Amino acid sequence: MMDRDKQLKLLKKYISGSRLKHSLSVEKTAIKLAKKYNADVDKAAAAGLLHDIAKDLSKSDRNALIKKYHLELTPLEESAPELLHGKLGALILAENGITSKKVLSAVENHTMGTDNMSKLDKIVYLADLIEPKRNFSGVKKLRFYAARDLDVALFESMKASLLRVIKSDKAIHPKTIDAYNHLLINHINVKLF
Ligand SMILES: [Fe+2]
Ligand SMILES: [Fe+2]
Repeated sequence: MMDRDKQLKLLKKYISGSRLKHSLSVEKTAIKLAKKYNADVDKAAAAGLLHDIAKDLSKSDRNALIKKYHLELTPLEESAPELLHGKLGALILAENGITSKKVLSAVENHTMGTDNMSKLDKIVYLADLIEPKRNFSGVKKLRFYAARDLDVALFESMKASLLRVIKSDKAIHPKTIDAYNHLLINHINVKLF
């Protein structure tokens, strides 16, 4: 794993200010969750720190990456390019010496989720939402779940964000629906019923 000083130096080429503070906070929360749920702490820290590296890309930098990697965007992705910052972040990290597939996957999937998420994917998704600087209504409940059960916490997080998206008349990415259904069928129903 690339050492943390190098990770931070790389990150600071792309983001600063409150986005950087949020990233440091996600790193800390991801470390805590990794310890609690027996995941690789160094990988959780790296993915947490670097997850939003592509969030502030300019439109032209974003388009250059999309072209370089021949990404085919759906109409939904065209209309909401911020949905892609996970995917683009993973590509930037892979170009800059981050080789861990687990770290790249957690960065890629932190925005929309995906079918059958790995433990590290789940930890980074959740850490992004519940880091101490977050203060949306319902975050306390999510922190409560996160301290008890990773799948339940993730399920409740996805449910809350799906409801938020629907209430604001926005489209839902199919990957998020896949993630929600997978969790419900394979983890939640099994535990509750
Ligand atoms: Fe993000
Ligand atoms: Fe984030």
